[in-house]
Amino acid sequence: MSERLKIDNLYKIYGGSPEPAISRLRNGATKDRVLAETGLVVGLNNVSLSIESGSIYMIMGLSGSGKSTLARCVNRLNEPSAGKILLDGRDLVALDEQALREVRRTRVSMVFQHFALLPNRTVRENVEFGLKLRRIAPAVRRRKAEEILAVVGLAAWGERMPHELSGGMRQRVGLARALATDADVLIMDEAFSALDPLIRAEMQDELLRLQRTLQKTILFITHDFQEALKLGTRIAIMADGEVVREGEPQDIVLDPQSDYVAEFTRDVDRSRVFDVRSAMSAAAAADLIGGHRVVLCANGGFAIDGDGRVKGHIARARIDDLRAGADIAPLMASSFSAISADAKLLDVSRVFTAGQPVAVLDGDDCIIGTVSPEAVLRQLSSSPAAPKSKEKVHV
Ligand SMILES: Nc1ncnc2c1ncn2[C@@H]1O[C@H](COP(=O)(O)OP(=O)(O)OP(=O)(O)O)[C@@H](O)[C@H]1O
Ligand SMILES: [Mg+2]
Repeated sequence: MSERLKIDNLYKIYGGSPEPAISRLRNGATKDRVLAETGLVVGLNNVSLSIESGSIYMIMGLSGSGKSTLARCVNRLNEPSAGKILLDGRDLVALDEQALREVRRTRVSMVFQHFALLPNRTVRENVEFGLKLRRIAPAVRRRKAEEILAVVGLAAWGERMPHELSGGMRQRVGLARALATDADVLIMDEAFSALDPLIRAEMQDELLRLQRTLQKTILFITHDFQEALKLGTRIAIMADGEVVREGEPQDIVLDPQSDYVAEFTRDVDRSRVFDVRSAMSAAAAADLIGGHRVVLCANGGFAIDGDGRVKGHIARARIDDLRAGADIAPLMASSFSAISADAKLLDVSRVFTAGQPVAVLDGDDCIIGTVSPEAVLRQLSSSPAAPKSKEKVHV
């Protein structure tokens, strides 16, 4: 993946000439002090982020922390006070009106919490709106709108009026409108926050499903940490206009680094956040035993073929037989389970059967480690900032 969007030392000051505020912030002043001394409101304080192409990048934080300010700065609905916003290396802050309009039409589109649909136009016409602005021919934009409505599950609703739709369906239309523009960067500011929990979960699933094929670069604003965990490739947590923690979801849960962040992570269902890899004991290189490649682990060993795929498990007591030259086939009788390293700990509980070893596989189905119920429990109950278990398998 490559970097699509880069935010570089961005400041946004509301309420007047920004210099007195920025110079104070650079000298370490807090947002409160800047307000007290200058009357200026700090929206963003030296924000730098790097957003990979095809990722869902979550911005989260309490109310007033600067999330919407950041979102609105990216397509310059808010004018940044200092800093750069680079889209594929091109600074959006430096663009003139015309170039900016072009970027908004073709590259960056936005979905808001309460998406304002045009009340007197049909659902399809609403979805077509961005294309019409780009003067795309009626037949072409109609086809595109119908295609996208089908994608968001509203194929049958194109000729209805917005008021005939539920809130969740209207939000889907908003999403469809943003998708129809073909913009490769989507900014979604609390796009699902007004939806009731069930519909919201459905929309999240829908977005993840769409994203598998569309591979947009999405900047998703939320104040809901669970939503950030579910959707996010990476998360940036903001407070008082600053990014106070940035990283992959499971790293943030494991090591929040401040009370402010720990407050969000406290009630997280760790089994849905941590992957099997986080509780895995990494496999040592295969040993050659009796002419066979065997990855040894705590309760025996996994016989593997030349590609690293597991052929079977050999109980600890039988390893010596193999060493002594016994035929391998009957020794591999003991049963085992296997699970992907990327599976969540929630899924691993389903493969544990009393006493049975579990092989952890990479994307090519090759064994890269083993995982035990004890290690999973340890990971689920470990307090934040506990070091990750990285010990090697006992041989
Ligand atoms: N147009 C504006 N004029 C003056 N101050 C503003 C303006 N918009 C935002 N602010 C201030 O900037 C700071 C960040 O606001 P912002 O709307 O970005 O927060 P947020 O994280 O999106 O909050 P929420 O979760 O409530 O949407 C706040 O202190 C707010 O008062
Ligand atoms: Mg906001």
